[in-house]
Amino acid sequence: MTWNPDQYHQFRAARSAPARDLQAMIPDRPFCEIVDLGCGTGEQTAQLAARFAAARVLGLDSSAEMLARAREHNAPNLRFAASDILELEGDFDLIYSNAALQWLPDHPALLARLWKHLRPGGVLAVQVPANHDHASHRLLSETADGFRTELGGYTRFGPAHGSSPVLTPAAYAETLDALGAAEITAISKVYPVVLNGAAGLLDWTRGTALVPYLSRLGEEDGRRFRAAYLERLTAAFPGGRVFYGFTRVLFAAHRPA
Ligand SMILES: C[S@@+](CC[C@H](N)C(=O)[O-])C[C@H]1O[C@@H](n2cnc3c(N)ncnc32)[C@H](O)[C@@H]1O
Repeated sequence: MTWNPDQYHQFRAARSAPARDLQAMIPDRPFCEIVDLGCGTGEQTAQLAARFAAARVLGLDSSAEMLARAREHNAPNLRFAASDILELEGDFDLIYSNAALQWLPDHPALLARLWKHLRPGGVLAVQVPANHDHASHRLLSETADGFRTELGGYTRFGPAHGSSPVLTPAAYAETLDALGAAEITAISKVYPVVLNGAAGLLDWTRGTALVPYLSRLGEEDGRRFRAAYLERLTAAFPGGRVFYGFTRVLFAAHRPA
């Protein structure tokens, strides 16, 4: 997938609030090894490196474009590497991931896999968007239906539109408990975003949800796709102001020492 750091940063202020909440769920501990999974442009990886100055902090991402931007952050204890989250190697005292794990399927299996890379006494802290039932996602799936040939049959959530890998806070808590986690916190929180009509909603999704579709389409098909999506959005959100109650799930847990 081709991510665009500038497009993603357009709504930086709205996207940084959940990251602040997630970081507040991490206790002050003398962590040695920290990993930020799906670190994107690396702001939060750099924040972790500044807060935990004695730790070695690694940001992992599979996007060359995002990593190129991330590498502009410099600190003696900070480094970035290209890797798929599913190919994580090594053991960590803090496994952190903000707005990235929603791109991976089967979260119970994913958490079980990540748990094996968490050292005893370590902390797992994750935030994932949970707004897949919002009209903007439904309309995106409907738009994709009309581009089945151009997309090679791809839809973000498979044939059952709307099914997302993201679980409820209670389901994450149960999954973590089954892994033997302690001090489990799992919450859902709405982060209000006000956008400029349907065009604003399109811009918002261009930084994230649209990425896998546009990466699969050439320039002309991509332009047609955006126009078709905008038409649907405009019919559903005809006003100049769109209130988007963006729901996210945050959870943190400790692995007993
Ligand atoms: C929405 S961005 C979030 C970036 C950053 N964590 C933040 O909060 O600003 C999602 C990031 O996850 C990365 N990503 C998605 N799937 C991935 C995977 N399987 N392995 C590694 N990185 C992945 C993308 O490349 C992208 O940079």
